[in-house]
Amino acid sequence: MRIILHSPLDMHLHLRQGEMMQAVTPFSAGQFAGAVIMPNLVSPVDSLEKAAVYKKEILQCGNTENFRPYMTLFFKQYSRQELIEARDSIIGIKLYPAGITTQSEKGVTDFSAINSTLGYMEELGIPLLIHGETAGFVMDREKEFLPIYRQFAEDFPNLHIIMEHITTADAVQLLDRYANISATVTLHHLMITLDDVIGGQLEPDLFCKPIAKTPKDLAALQDAVFSGHPQIMFGSDSAPHPRHKKECCGCAAGIFSAPVILPLLAELFEDAGKLNLLQGFISDIACTRYALQPLEKNITLEQKPWKIPELYNDLKPFGAGRVLRWSQLQ
Ligand code: DOR
Ligand code: ZN
Repeated sequence: MRIILHSPLDMHLHLRQGEMMQAVTPFSAGQFAGAVIMPNLVSPVDSLEKAAVYKKEILQCGNTENFRPYMTLFFKQYSRQELIEARDSIIGIKLYPAGITTQSEKGVTDFSAINSTLGYMEELGIPLLIHGETAGFVMDREKEFLPIYRQFAEDFPNLHIIMEHITTADAVQLLDRYANISATVTLHHLMITLDDVIGGQLEPDLFCKPIAKTPKDLAALQDAVFSGHPQIMFGSDSAPHPRHKKECCGCAAGIFSAPVILPLLAELFEDAGKLNLLQGFISDIACTRYALQPLEKNITLEQKPWKIPELYNDLKPFGAGRVLRWSQLQ
């Protein structure tokens, strides 16, 4: 049996820079027609010029002939004129609360002081992608951030707001109240809970932000995705870090899932009896929510066992060593 996926899209991806970018980009470019590229570089992507340079660097990596990087800007206070100029070159602006995750130090400190930029974004039709966590207790950070989503959704009813990498039942519920809010869900948050991260031996390769939550939260995410929720799309949040940044004190947050995404998603959807909903999750819902017309690209998966490698050079992939039922037809 085979599955053909039309123009798969990864709506949340970290490609990094330099050698790391060259190593990881081909995995995403080989599976996806396009991906939303996160701007949290060492020097954040916070101008049109930086976005153009970064896009060019990405497109010089291997396998990218038929791959579209959808660029984002790092949220700061932008003028209306800056946003008018940027509008056609970006898919959205990514907001990080200051210091909440990797390379987010230049993020937002005062959420009541950014209304002018949000107003311009609403007027100009530029989506707002948010890493929605407070600095509170780690398991409550997403829940505590929900009032800010609510406030933005009500104050800017025509602004498309995307709750990135949601992990809680509460976030899923919020979608029902606001038509202008969407969400992305990662592969790993559809599979693991906090128990997998710290319940046995500490698993640095499963440490990410937001941290995986409770069995109830996992069930809520699965129920939403496996019922074809029309506001939820796939975003891997694949976030590679070299071994010495993972296997150390002060382990960096991030799961490197890029090499395994489509075969593993096929397995999950098949196990849930919902293979028919995979196309929506992996592309169609994102196209509707973002009004995208992606590159034409068909990816075929075949039912042929594939063992996920233990390592890709210095990077450990999500699911390392696991044997999957599906593999990508090359
Ligand atoms: O786990 C994470 N890693 N979460 C983020 O929000 C950022 C990312 C990264 O850039 O490493
Ligand atoms: Zn991310």
